[in-house]
Amino acid sequence: MSIANLSPIPELYVSYESAQKLKVEAAQLTSHDLTPRQICDLELLMNGGFNPLKGFLTEKDYTGVVENMRLADGSLWPMPITLDVSEDFAAKVEVGQDIALRDQEGVILAMMSVTDKYIPNKAREAEMVFGADDSAHPAVNYLHNQAGAVYLGGPVTGIQQPVHYDFKARRDTPNELRAYFRKVGWRKVVAFQTRNPLHRAHQELTFRAAREAQANLLIHPVVGMTKPGDVDHFTRVRCYEAVLDQYPSSTTTMSLLNLAMRMAGPREAVWHGLIRKNHGCTHFIVGRDHAGPGKNSAGQDFYGPYDAQDLFKTYETEIGLEMVDFKHMVYVQEKAQYFPADEVPEGATVLDISGTELRRRLAEGLEIPEWFSFPQVVTELRRTRPARSKQGFTVFFTGFSGSGKSTIANALMVKLMEMGGRPVTLLDGDLVRKNLSSELGFSKEHRDLNIRRIGYVASEITKNGGIAICAPIAPYATTRRAVREDVEQFGAFLEIHVATSLEECERRDRKGLYKLAREGKIKEFTGISDPYNVPENPELRIETENHDVDNCAHQVLLKLESMGLIKG
Ligand code: PPS
Repeated sequence: MSIANLSPIPELYVSYESAQKLKVEAAQLTSHDLTPRQICDLELLMNGGFNPLKGFLTEKDYTGVVENMRLADGSLWPMPITLDVSEDFAAKVEVGQDIALRDQEGVILAMMSVTDKYIPNKAREAEMVFGADDSAHPAVNYLHNQAGAVYLGGPVTGIQQPVHYDFKARRDTPNELRAYFRKVGWRKVVAFQTRNPLHRAHQELTFRAAREAQANLLIHPVVGMTKPGDVDHFTRVRCYEAVLDQYPSSTTTMSLLNLAMRMAGPREAVWHGLIRKNHGCTHFIVGRDHAGPGKNSAGQDFYGPYDAQDLFKTYETEIGLEMVDFKHMVYVQEKAQYFPADEVPEGATVLDISGTELRRRLAEGLEIPEWFSFPQVVTELRRTRPARSKQGFTVFFTGFSGSGKSTIANALMVKLMEMGGRPVTLLDGDLVRKNLSSELGFSKEHRDLNIRRIGYVASEITKNGGIAICAPIAPYATTRRAVREDVEQFGAFLEIHVATSLEECERRDRKGLYKLAREGKIKEFTGISDPYNVPENPELRIETENHDVDNCAHQVLLKLESMGLIKG
């Protein structure tokens, strides 16, 4: 098993000529617009990265995968690769029908013969695959709040690869990598999976792994979808390219993998192993907390730090790839060298900078020592993540109508403009409804659309280094969370609950709307005839009843200062 069989693996693509014909036929079919995650999955299905899968999972395969990590034919497969669609779309599709799968620009990538249409038990999927039905897990959150309610299963016929315009020369299909390994005579290849920039500890770990396995090294970073909040892949690839110079080119190569990660820890490690096996590798590095999703809603880790190594070990023979396991690497000052945490010489001084600490130092523009990372990597990271006081951010007020959101938001805007330095935009509830959302009403669907639009604009402002102040009611927690995720890709998000009680808002009734709502003349009125989910963990909760507007806005400024977003 430790010598690669580098013969080509099956792909799902048809020949170029057949693809041209199929494209014309497929244009007549009912078509599904793939989500970004489904595009990643489809690419790896079609190019053999997910071999032995031949399409999106049928119900039988899905049940086997969820319950015991096996397809119906008994093959090991730990991750549900499913085509989730809306109920409306599912109603248009009959079992036995062919559908076209299109990318987000409408290009037809594949055809799928629908053999199965089923409603998954998402809670069970979450428990079994991700370890808990807890929406603090990004994949569980995706499952419940983004994925459609119905799954379609069936074989896929590949028409064309998804188009990538970035780093084209660095992307390889499994067969391209296999051909490369054949060409350069690499028979043992150890793969290193990563979704983070490479620092010195990673370099040491990969060197050691290659030595241990007596193998060549494939740095195989994920550029599809990783954990929300990660460093974007453009920055990471520039960092990898800088570090690649530090590796001997005859022994190491790098290739980018368009995988949509699920952060499923142990199951994900087994899945990553199978994918690397398909890419012609013989060994796979599994470190501490492989593909870990962070903390659960009780503040504890979802998985033990070495659970992934344990599960991988159990299935190692079947995966067909040897695990090179590593403990956490730390820097030993006296030796000026990295060691696995369990091999540190006694009494030595251990230095370590955690991911959180690194982010803090970047955010505050503090020193990042050379023993920790390479100067080129630090420069790239600083270019992308300037100190917090120079980044854009979003302040998102939420609360009942008449709670005082707009008034505080206006005062805050003026104070921030007085300080200067960054452009400030106010996306007030009423303003947005006039300019961005004039056709929308107050049904749940329309409110969600309204808030997602605000979130989109705020995230663009944040990305471009400005300050967005939003002040809608935003009554639903899941929508607020979605906006947070949109914004946090680019900068800080402060949820501020303007906690004026309903009684007080109704007593003030500035616009006379509560009276009309009580009389039933306005339907679906927040607090009266429509729900308001009180924010559980806002960055700040403001009581307005005993404080004037100036003081409320000042509380926000203090919070911004404590988060390093404005300099005192
Ligand atoms: S939401 O739920 O976030 O989309 O609402 P938002 O865009 O902030 O709009 C709220 C303002 O619209 C007025 N209005 C209503 N509010 C709540 N429920 C119903 N049914 C409704 N109908 C009209 C109300 O004046 C809100 O303004 P604010 O500034 O919050 O008082």
